[in-house]
Amino acid sequence: MTFPTFHAEAVSDFHPAPSVDEIAATQLHVSKAMPKEAGCIGIAVGVEGEVPRELGLDRTRLASAGFEGKVGQSLVIPRADGPAVVVVGMGPKEGRDLTSLRHAAAAFARAGGHYAHLAITLPELTGVAPADAAQAVVEGVLLARYRYRPLKRTSQQEPPLEALTLLSPSLPPEEVKRGVERGRITARAAELARDLSNAPATLLTARRLEEIARVVAESSGLDIEVLDEKALAKLGCGGMLGVNAGSSEPPRLIKLSYRPKDARGKALEPVGRVSLVGKGIMYDSGGLGLKPNDLVHAAMKTDMSGAAAILAAMSALSSLGARASVTGYLMCTDNMPGGKAMRLGDVLTARGGKTVEVLNTDAEGRLVMMDGLVLATEEQPPPDAILDIATLTGACERALGNDNAGVIGNHQGVVDQVCAAAEKSDETVWQFPLDKRLRQELDSEVADLKNVGGVNAGQITAALFLEEFVAGIPWAHIDMAGTSRVETDKSWRSKGATGYGTRLLIEFLLGFRAPGETRH
Ligand code: BES
Ligand code: MN
Ligand code: ZN
Repeated sequence: MTFPTFHAEAVSDFHPAPSVDEIAATQLHVSKAMPKEAGCIGIAVGVEGEVPRELGLDRTRLASAGFEGKVGQSLVIPRADGPAVVVVGMGPKEGRDLTSLRHAAAAFARAGGHYAHLAITLPELTGVAPADAAQAVVEGVLLARYRYRPLKRTSQQEPPLEALTLLSPSLPPEEVKRGVERGRITARAAELARDLSNAPATLLTARRLEEIARVVAESSGLDIEVLDEKALAKLGCGGMLGVNAGSSEPPRLIKLSYRPKDARGKALEPVGRVSLVGKGIMYDSGGLGLKPNDLVHAAMKTDMSGAAAILAAMSALSSLGARASVTGYLMCTDNMPGGKAMRLGDVLTARGGKTVEVLNTDAEGRLVMMDGLVLATEEQPPPDAILDIATLTGACERALGNDNAGVIGNHQGVVDQVCAAAEKSDETVWQFPLDKRLRQELDSEVADLKNVGGVNAGQITAALFLEEFVAGIPWAHIDMAGTSRVETDKSWRSKGATGYGTRLLIEFLLGFRAPGETRH
């Protein structure tokens, strides 16, 4: 497809998501001995206990340089003969877990940011399986070294990471290799999500995302079906069409399906069925209620991060051998203020027939999500659970900041599975109540409901809006407005889009069990 003319010359060879093609960009090795080519080796040192003798430094010398061994600390020691050494803080022995290990690995990768080939000794951890440890280290290193490079032409200071070697003299190499492979898959998936969110909105339209999704689906064993504006009209997806009305770019609903199969390709009985719905606002200008021209709103190209996380997570399911059956709905359009844009007071009809009065054109996410949620409820057999993920409200970001996403649901069992996956992936969440007392704020004079509540608890009224469309099916909603991007490098999150939700969704889907009947 062609790019808009004002970009055509400048970016004719532009690929918005290079991670799609760069599956093997970083070589990953497992070795018993130090590789000759490593430019930089990491040596783990905790806050207590012996300092490894090969370092040639004791605790006092390390402390004099400000290194105490806390997780996240690192100290680079260049050497005249041989690779530089990075002393990597591992914290106290008690309480070392996958999160602290991933964090330590990220600190190592950043400290060694000038080197293209890193090696690090995998520490032995009590109570952590070697494969899990290897996965966390690979994730920490790869994700910390991620940069969105396709539009950088003249200013590249940091070399891309060419190789990472995990040294594990004592751990079983087969298990370590298995973990490395899993880490490669999960990190690559998160990088795909980051690429898509970092790509400028004019270059990554809903149509372009369709093309990428087709490539990803083909290479990762997913079925794909794409609905254009005509198909959406036929289905009565008034939310998608209403939000899209002010745009010169058409919308796309990208539907992905994963069905578990055995090694010979024979269908397996799924352990459960999950439907995922993702907000794919390619750019959120606010619509006729235009957003101001400031840096916060400059981030609105990332308003499709929920959809990106779903595509990315689903791309990993087959290679990770997921046993749940998963259907993903990516609700893709931008929200623009063109001459045909939806106006305040307009009434949209959602798939299924509910009517919604638009009283804020900037509360567009819920309008596209409602169609996706209804379609998810209509599947046969119906899903055991619906999980949606969206950069939905500034209110959620205001309440929680940028480290936790909000989670709200109508079923504590599903919310608990989200929380467990969030802990495991370190893509953490905090639960808000689905408080029915706020529901009246959505009452409309002329329609079934309006698309905004009052000034308070905006993340909760947004969730109450979505709940109207899930037909009582066990459901949880993740509001990732605050976690979708970071302004500076922070542990394994590299500045820009974080890919938040990708690894959370992977863990959720790998661990999914159809919930019992414990609604709350
Ligand atoms: N995409 C925004 C939410 C957002 C804000 C995402 C900050 C990432 C960072 C969403 O569409 C929006 O504009 N929400 C409004 C809702 C309001 C009009 C009810 C908001 O949060 O102000
Ligand atoms: Mn908006
Ligand atoms: Zn939005």
